[in-house]
Amino acid sequence: MHAINGTICFVGSGSMAEAILRGLLERQVAAPDQIIVTNRHNHTRLEQLQSQYGINTACDQEQKEQAIKEAELLLLAVKPKDAEAALTAVRHCLRPDQLLISVLAGVSIASLQRYAGTTLPIVRTMPNTSSTIGLGATGISLSPAVTAEQQTQAMTIFEAIGTVKLVEEDQLHVVTALSGSGPAYVYYMIEAMMEAAVSMGMDESTAKELAVQTILGAAEMVQRTGEEPSTLREKVTSPGGTTYAALERFRQLNYKDIVKQAMTSAEARSREMGATTKTAKEEHHDA
Ligand SMILES: NC(=O)c1ccc[n+]([C@@H]2O[C@H](COP(=O)([O-])OP(=O)(O)OC[C@H]3O[C@@H](n4cnc5c(N)ncnc54)[C@H](OP(=O)(O)O)[C@@H]3O)[C@@H](O)[C@H]2O)c1
Repeated sequence: MHAINGTICFVGSGSMAEAILRGLLERQVAAPDQIIVTNRHNHTRLEQLQSQYGINTACDQEQKEQAIKEAELLLLAVKPKDAEAALTAVRHCLRPDQLLISVLAGVSIASLQRYAGTTLPIVRTMPNTSSTIGLGATGISLSPAVTAEQQTQAMTIFEAIGTVKLVEEDQLHVVTALSGSGPAYVYYMIEAMMEAAVSMGMDESTAKELAVQTILGAAEMVQRTGEEPSTLREKVTSPGGTTYAALERFRQLNYKDIVKQAMTSAEARSREMGATTKTAKEEHHDA
């Protein structure tokens, strides 16, 4: 018995679609015959996914329309700029009891509703790039029409590729600034630690290995012990010691304020991009 009832039809077959369907199969949330994948015209990609995962694919327009009509869940995984074309092309196949799940950055529930042309329930999500290795952090928000059972199904799908948190739609901008863009902050931290170690005479590959393992171990410590990061930090900081010396320097340089300013910029940019997408679509709509 799988956690997903009925079939799930992917509209879009890129890297995010593959990450999700791989997670669903690996965690046995869905069976291969419950998954059907469609895209715009890349048949080679569909054949590759079919042979690799044993899932179903729909290539021509008639098959695509049938797949969409019959699915309980639709997973929209196209680029934000293609959302309107993808949904308007299939709006005549949509049913009000189907659940539309979107992974598109910056496309609001209201816009999706408008492109779909019906009041079908919508789950909007913001996964991050670590979803591709099953360690994602996803924020999700719901339109009012989403039922409790549909919410559970959506949460189950994203739990198959990591952690999921339910938030109000407006908070997806904060999710974007925190976990959406967050992997790049950590990559930057790794780069900085490596560069500092190299400047002190260490070779680059040793520096990389030690820096990566340090970040991995520290994150695991927070997760496994359940202790606050500040408590763990205090435990390893003896007054006058080496860690103390480094952290004092961070404090003098306002490290927390730097992170806050950076995340505030990401959040503001997310709001700006959301507004731009809407305006461009509305202009197109009015034309
Ligand atoms: N990758 C990430 O880490 C990440 C993280 C968070 C959110 N996201 C979101 O995930 C979404 C997908 O990203 P991706 O990296 O997977 O994109 P991608 O690799 O470029 O794939 C896009 C897919 O959309 C299909 N498509 C385009 N127009 C279509 C249409 N009109 N009808 C049906 N299918 C259509 C494409 O089909 P063809 O190849 O046939 O054109 C392709 O399969 C984006 O909106 C992004 O915001 C991604």
